[in-house]
Amino acid sequence: MTFNKEQAIGIFDSGVGGLTVAGAIRNILPHENIIYFGDTAHLPYGDKSSDSIKYYSKKIADFLIEQNCKVVLIACNTASAHAYEEVKKYLGDKVKVFNVIDPVIDYISNLTNLTNVGVIGTKGTIASGTYSRKLKEKMPDVDVSCLATPLLAPMIEEGFIFDDISNAIIRTYLSNPKLKAVNPLILGCTHYPIIRNQIRKFFDFNVKVIDSGHLVAVLIKDYLNRNKLLNYDNHPKYRFCVSDYTVLFENISEMFFEDEVKLEMIDLWK
Ligand code: DGL
Repeated sequence: MTFNKEQAIGIFDSGVGGLTVAGAIRNILPHENIIYFGDTAHLPYGDKSSDSIKYYSKKIADFLIEQNCKVVLIACNTASAHAYEEVKKYLGDKVKVFNVIDPVIDYISNLTNLTNVGVIGTKGTIASGTYSRKLKEKMPDVDVSCLATPLLAPMIEEGFIFDDISNAIIRTYLSNPKLKAVNPLILGCTHYPIIRNQIRKFFDFNVKVIDSGHLVAVLIKDYLNRNKLLNYDNHPKYRFCVSDYTVLFENISEMFFEDEVKLEMIDLWK
């Protein structure tokens, strides 16, 4: 397939959490057109079966191909864990597919003196075993401690971020003995960068807290550069599509993207 630089970067997530990754893409690649799809009709993916996540992800990938995207980024850890291989096979040589797990694994495997890497994420991401398998493949001598923290994503979506409720939930999860000796800690959910500082504070700023946004954005920039697909538009176009529109989604989208967001409803399943 041949592409041109004006074609958009296609990004999808189960909902609006992936907008933290879209924001990182915009920061590193400010001249790129972006089409974002949030599958708000089916979230949370963290509680869905692997087969459902694969089915939804392929349908969204079809949509992004119809929109002529020059790359596809799965900006959801749960979909990256369950559906990346399937989507990659499904799209074949139509387009390059990125996920949000591999860039973090590659980054961490280049760090030295690690003894215990921690991962927090949705039930689906942790149950898939993807992080521990991939980390162990690259670093067999390092311990990996994974913990499902399913209340964090809805907590953030409900706006509990700097208060007693969020402090109690964060403290309860992070005091789990599994996470006692971890460093670094991977934020294995695209919602979690919103509470990165509270997480760092819990560990007295002594634990390195890593998320995928910046890392995957740098990787995509490098890919576009090598393939002469970098865009130089000073007025790039952003489209934010969701499979179910509510005013609440629109309002919280702006918190994740850190800019104005107008959602467009596109029902892929009608
Ligand atoms: N944004 C999703 C992730 O990174 C989590 C939300 C969900 O469960 O749908 O895994």
